[in-house]
Amino acid sequence: MAGNEIKIVIAGHVDHGKSTLVGRFLCDTGQMPADRKEKIEKRCKKDGKRFEFAFLLDAFEEEQDQGITIDATEIRWSFGGKRFLLIDTPGHREFSKNMVTGASKADAAIILLDAGEGIREQFRRHSHILAMLGIENIIVAVNKMDLAAYNARRFAAIKKEAGGFLARIGIPPAAVIPICALHGENLVQKSPRMPWYAGKPLAGALLDLKATRNTGLEPFRFSIQDVYKSGGKRIYAGRVESGILRKGREVEFLPSGKGTCVKTIEKWREPGIKTAKHGDCVGITLAEPLPVERGEVAVGRKQRAIVSDLVRANIFWMGDQPLTAGRGYKFRLAAQEAGCRLVSVENVIDADTFEKMDASEDAIARNNMGDVTLQLDRPLVYDEFSKVAAMGRFVLVDGERVSGGGIILGDTRAGFPGREIKDRKVFTEKSGITKEARKKRNGHPGFAIWLTGLPGSGKSTIARELEKRLFETGVQVYALDGDNIRHGINRDLGFSSADRAENIRRLSEIAGLFSDAGLAVITAFISPFESDRKKARETIGAANFIEVFVDCPLEVCEKRDPKGLYKKARRGEILNFTGVHAPYEKPVRPDITLRTDKIDAIAAVKKIIDFLERKGKTGTSGRRDPAYEKK
Ligand code: ADX
Repeated sequence: MAGNEIKIVIAGHVDHGKSTLVGRFLCDTGQMPADRKEKIEKRCKKDGKRFEFAFLLDAFEEEQDQGITIDATEIRWSFGGKRFLLIDTPGHREFSKNMVTGASKADAAIILLDAGEGIREQFRRHSHILAMLGIENIIVAVNKMDLAAYNARRFAAIKKEAGGFLARIGIPPAAVIPICALHGENLVQKSPRMPWYAGKPLAGALLDLKATRNTGLEPFRFSIQDVYKSGGKRIYAGRVESGILRKGREVEFLPSGKGTCVKTIEKWREPGIKTAKHGDCVGITLAEPLPVERGEVAVGRKQRAIVSDLVRANIFWMGDQPLTAGRGYKFRLAAQEAGCRLVSVENVIDADTFEKMDASEDAIARNNMGDVTLQLDRPLVYDEFSKVAAMGRFVLVDGERVSGGGIILGDTRAGFPGREIKDRKVFTEKSGITKEARKKRNGHPGFAIWLTGLPGSGKSTIARELEKRLFETGVQVYALDGDNIRHGINRDLGFSSADRAENIRRLSEIAGLFSDAGLAVITAFISPFESDRKKARETIGAANFIEVFVDCPLEVCEKRDPKGLYKKARRGEILNFTGVHAPYEKPVRPDITLRTDKIDAIAAVKKIIDFLERKGKTGTSGRRDPAYEKK
């Protein structure tokens, strides 16, 4: 069964001996058809070439002429009672899609190094891609030890460097093994030429690998590939992507949210099985036959996956055309597929140098990597890669070609990691003036009214009106407006998700200071992300923070289009425009919601003032204005 097979991708430079390694594995364990070996031996003799194990694998005649492997080949191999699928990938400098598609289904990887060459750029590149594709079981094989005179010190130096690098990028190797593939040393048998090496030979190390990280405690995910009827039963065929499928288990299907129990597990020639685990492809029947479709994912109760049409991801791009906001792509994850667009690029990493590049272009060129936000055309079911690897990796298809792959960092709620600043030691000084003293002086406490909503929803109008109204009643008040602030302190920020997060972070700090100073501050920023608003609440202090959702349907905002920006965005003249190609997350629990398509600014302001009075925020200064009383 495919599920019991351990899939191992072999990465390494074109001359590092990948095919030789695989050929040797087959020969040394008696799994190479004898006639094939003979045929190649004869041919080599005729051509006056040295016999190479790599030739045994070459699927294409011309490869033998070129002496390189040009396509990913998948070879089945059994050893020690386990079955392996060895996926050989091309080692050209530019990755072909085979690496990503081949590697994305692998459980483990062997990275081949050349003992003579040591660590080169390509090793780093391959490692990054393996890390990005979520392949955590890594074995480094340092090949051609014969050419390095089986030197223990040489090996130790490479081991230190390679191991250190892999650990730094989050995939420390399970083993680093000195080998000579050509002579079959430390492959299946331990080599007498390297007595200083205390570990297992490569094949033994492969046996030690766990096919998965599955401990049975991972959240349960079963991805539906097909639904069919057989003998009057409705069978849901799919793959256990993570966790354990048990007969009788309560499951919920996402994104539809329908729930029921697993009645039976059906596996060909294995009737009456009670469980299936990670990697198994099985059919199930349900206690209640639900209308579930291909692509839906069954999850365990209380083990919800993310259902969202937004994805924050780290991707590797290898399309001929750069990944840009202007094009539509297909997003594939497990058995799900959706249309997708690039919303923003948080940062780009040059795959040659691994340096961060300027992301102002909002595009990712071939062979680069980056953190991005993707907008899907419908909500899909997924997990953060760090939580459920199989449901946290995906590929991007441009036209018909797989042009990128990535791992999911989360939905937009988690935000992007901030800049890390070292060498800081900062203390906090306390003011000698108390909150109470300020409140007494001003006649009211300090607080922040945080207006959030789509462009054109009416935030600025309400902010201006509210500021005037509070000022007139004696409140020390000041309104901060997104457009104004972006001319000044935040002039260095754009509209990527990361820049917006930074925009809101700074504004929260400013609003927090105003409120600490005992003033009433009104903010009018789109602040589209729940996570950023949550942080604002924390910075300012929940007791002083009033979140006001300026709620207005997109169609109405777009019709109003006070600055003509929606039109520009639709024409593609502005990227990342909220509501058009950048997301707006509605507040989960706002203190006040104002439907500005239904009420005008005066009525909206009255609602806020009523709220403030109820909470005692306007203090002794509150003096009612007849103009508002009428409303
Ligand atoms: S926020 O998303 O970071 O909170 P903020 O409220 O500061 O945005 O700024 C929004 C204002 O910037 C809008 O009122 C609009 O005039 C202008 N703007 C320019 N480009 C964009 C864009 N791509 N998306 C949204 N607003 C934009």
